[in-house]
Amino acid sequence: MIFEIRTYGDPVLRDKNKEVEKIDDDIREILDGMVETMRDISGIGLAAPQVGINLRMFVVEAEEGVVKKVINPEFIEYSKHCVDHEEGCLSVPGIHKKVKRPESLKVRYLNENGESVEEELEDLWARAFQHENDHLEGILFVDKIAPVAKRLVSKKLVNMKKETLKKLGK
Ligand code: CO
Repeated sequence: MIFEIRTYGDPVLRDKNKEVEKIDDDIREILDGMVETMRDISGIGLAAPQVGINLRMFVVEAEEGVVKKVINPEFIEYSKHCVDHEEGCLSVPGIHKKVKRPESLKVRYLNENGESVEEELEDLWARAFQHENDHLEGILFVDKIAPVAKRLVSKKLVNMKKETLKKLGK
């Protein structure tokens, strides 16, 4: 199932996301649909609120063919070392800016079978997990870019929000 991607300005991206209480076929079906949607638009990650579902889960494919389905993630530890890297977001099309984030981290989550997984991630995997986890807190990468960069895209963001609200009939 291909979902519609919610864009900047859609309140669903800022709403509170609930823990997944029961990992059943409905949840697995949503996760499969999220993977399909992410691949359809060549993304490397997609969080549930981006498809209008306020649950704490996301999918990441930071290496081609390696998909991680992540439910109720907890970040246990971050590296002290941070790196600046350009990011984009399927919900904020057309904007790419640098964001500073820890280079590696340790995370614990449930997979689609309800099993607890603990992993150490680095580079693109660590970055994608942090970006997607921010979505679960209602945070978008453009909230985290440097003030100078933010000024450069502020007009684009205002227009994007207007377009989104118009589409939603608000
Ligand atoms: Co995003």
